[in-house]
Amino acid sequence: MNEIINNILTRRSIRVFKEEQIPESDLNIILEAATFAPTGMNAQSWHFTAIHSKEKLAELNSLVQKVLVTHPGADPGMPYIDFLKNMAEAPNFNFFYHAPTLVIATNSINSASAAPQSDCTAALQNIFLAAHSLGIGSCWIHLLVLISDLPEIKDHLTALGVPLDHKIYGSAALGFPGRSNPKPSPRKSGVITIVK
Ligand SMILES: Cc1cc2nc3c(=O)[nH]c(=O)nc-3n(C[C@H](O)[C@H](O)[C@H](O)COP(=O)(O)O)c2cc1C
Repeated sequence: MNEIINNILTRRSIRVFKEEQIPESDLNIILEAATFAPTGMNAQSWHFTAIHSKEKLAELNSLVQKVLVTHPGADPGMPYIDFLKNMAEAPNFNFFYHAPTLVIATNSINSASAAPQSDCTAALQNIFLAAHSLGIGSCWIHLLVLISDLPEIKDHLTALGVPLDHKIYGSAALGFPGRSNPKPSPRKSGVITIVK
């Protein structure tokens, strides 16, 4: 099997990370790989905000926890809010599994692409695969997508570098895996049709 296919088949979502920070040189390669994903109309209207600081991530986690815990809940505009509040009430809450780096993928609300979400998703998959090829574990972290319009979160993310006129589509936790690679869950059958 060639190395690329092997890399795709052996990547797994990692949810236990070592404390050690990933090298900036590796982060740069991973981010470059993100920017080489395809985009609708070649818009490239995305932005990747990489938080490569455990201190800044701890501040973000504390803010997210505070905002969720103090949210009144039961908001029809935020269908998952009660579930999220419940999660945030855990004293050891950490929404990115204590990974030392988090990359937030966003796209312009005025993108020329007809599919800004898909563009970010393609970039995130490049991030996961590039990271895995360098021995770095990763996991998609969706929480920020669900709460990014809450004013305190929006202001904090803007201060960190997320462009004001961008929407968050996903984020990637990155760090050295704290355990051996989990086994893939069994693949569902019947999901492929080849027409000859
Ligand atoms: C759109 C999307 C959102 C996801 N959100 C989360 C998340 O918030 N937290 C998490 O731990 N995993 C998240 N995942 C990872 C999935 O749980 C994981 O990919 C799936 O269980 C299959 O495992 P694998 O990645 O090891 O193949 C997400 C994956 C996708 C594609």
